[in-house]
Amino acid sequence: MSNSFEDALKSVRKSAQSELAQANTEAEVSQLTTDYLGRKGKLTSLLRDLRELPPEERPRAGEQANALKAELEGKIDNLRAHLREEAKQRTLSRERIDVTLPGTLLQQGRLHPITQVMAQMVDIFIRMGFQVAEGPQVELDYYNFEALNMPSDHPARDMHDTFYFSEEILLRTHTSPVQIRVMESQHPPIQIIAPGVVYRRDSDISHTPMFHQVEGLMVDEGISFAHLKGVLTFFVQEMFGKGTPLRFRPSFFPFTEPSAEVDIGCVICQGKGCRVCGGTGWLEILGAGMVDPDVFRIVGYDPEEVTGFAFGLGIERIAMLKFGINDIRLFFTNDLRFLRQF
Ligand code: PHE
Repeated sequence: MSNSFEDALKSVRKSAQSELAQANTEAEVSQLTTDYLGRKGKLTSLLRDLRELPPEERPRAGEQANALKAELEGKIDNLRAHLREEAKQRTLSRERIDVTLPGTLLQQGRLHPITQVMAQMVDIFIRMGFQVAEGPQVELDYYNFEALNMPSDHPARDMHDTFYFSEEILLRTHTSPVQIRVMESQHPPIQIIAPGVVYRRDSDISHTPMFHQVEGLMVDEGISFAHLKGVLTFFVQEMFGKGTPLRFRPSFFPFTEPSAEVDIGCVICQGKGCRVCGGTGWLEILGAGMVDPDVFRIVGYDPEEVTGFAFGLGIERIAMLKFGINDIRLFFTNDLRFLRQF
């Protein structure tokens, strides 16, 4: 066989081996593959040159050239696999997670004290069988006043000065409009509470322009003031403790008759008289009464058939008493030092 062909094979083998030994990346290996085995590669050219050899030398030369080709292909495959494995190990060790490291602590939020008290109140009434109803905060004059027996010239509107969008549309001043909406859309028996946000043009140490109420309404045949008393007594004892006394004072609301305001024994001084209760030993927490027959007629109920009671509780008031807070505005200034205490 021509020595020159054999020499050429040897030199290709040598240079390929030394280049393979130096290749450190898959890209370099690919380049090498092209350089030797590609269409214009060094070994490929040699294989093409076989044609020019004398026929009797071709088989052996071909055998050697093919052996070298197989050898190079094998080495390239191995090297490639090796580099790939190395890269994988590098990534794995770079991305290794130490599961024993202490985690980053998440800032934990908590429920606003008003939300907490509201949830607690709702829960107490739900246990007595009340269902939760809701109405819009942007309300019609009709539901907020008119249908509750408060025509536009009624003096009771004075205490309910509010924010108007137009003559007819306003921010509701109490949750009582939900009474009307529920009675308009359902038949008795009705037993609902309506917790929610209300608005009044008022702002001082015990008033904010936005606050929360829970409305209650129960209508059926034979509902009496005794039922109202029972429901509220249970509520007060659950909320403030078993021994908490309560009393009903005659009062007036245009949509209930008779009406009452309900006081509980002062939770600060236990009825002895203090600054919070103004020395009386009692704290007012809600307004209530028997649904006025006029209201029943407005929603199309027959006052000869059904009777009912309604009440409206201020949530901030309850929360202040429960937590011993003396300024209602603290609830809405979003001072985390205050809020974190609950
Ligand atoms: N809506 C009244 C208020 O906000 C409270 C109330 C509700 C009174 C239901 C009687 C019956 O002042």
